[in-house]
Amino acid sequence: MSDSSANASGSAAYPITLDLNGQTRRLEVLPWTTLLDLLREQLGLSGTKKGCDHGQCGACTVLLDGKRINACLTLAVMHDGAKLTTIEGLAEGDRLHPMQAAFIRHDAFQCGYCTPGQICSAVALIAEGHALTTDDIREQMSGNLCRCGAYPNILAAIEKVLADRGEERR
Ligand code: FES
Ligand code: FES
Repeated sequence: MSDSSANASGSAAYPITLDLNGQTRRLEVLPWTTLLDLLREQLGLSGTKKGCDHGQCGACTVLLDGKRINACLTLAVMHDGAKLTTIEGLAEGDRLHPMQAAFIRHDAFQCGYCTPGQICSAVALIAEGHALTTDDIREQMSGNLCRCGAYPNILAAIEKVLADRGEERR
């Protein structure tokens, strides 16, 4: 992290650089700004949702250097140089990420508020390679709550993506 500089209100803002959804972004962030608030308030990327703001619901899940993280629980200033992917960065042009397509195909949402976090979490879960059984998926997605109770269809969507990848299951 490099030197701080005074912002318009006289507070110390720090320069950070992020690879955000494939684009290099040079930003000034206040030391107390969470990654979630940076995304939503400063950058207008409102796809990442704020549910509890306390690390309990998973609505704010994003991919940081390929790993899932609750964006409400970490400070933006800590991630200078990181590669960050949000729900807005998963599709390739008009082509949805397979997990996004599977959520639609399996009707894996109702109100949709938890959905960006569910999808980011599911993408990371598959990359982690530990989801060998249906119970594994349930357990490893347990940090992502859905008040609408769309769990069976979320599970079906994830299982479909795993099956399409030819992942071995038990
Ligand atoms: S908003 Fe971050 S875990 Fe709930
Ligand atoms: S779809 Fe409504 S909270 Fe999950």
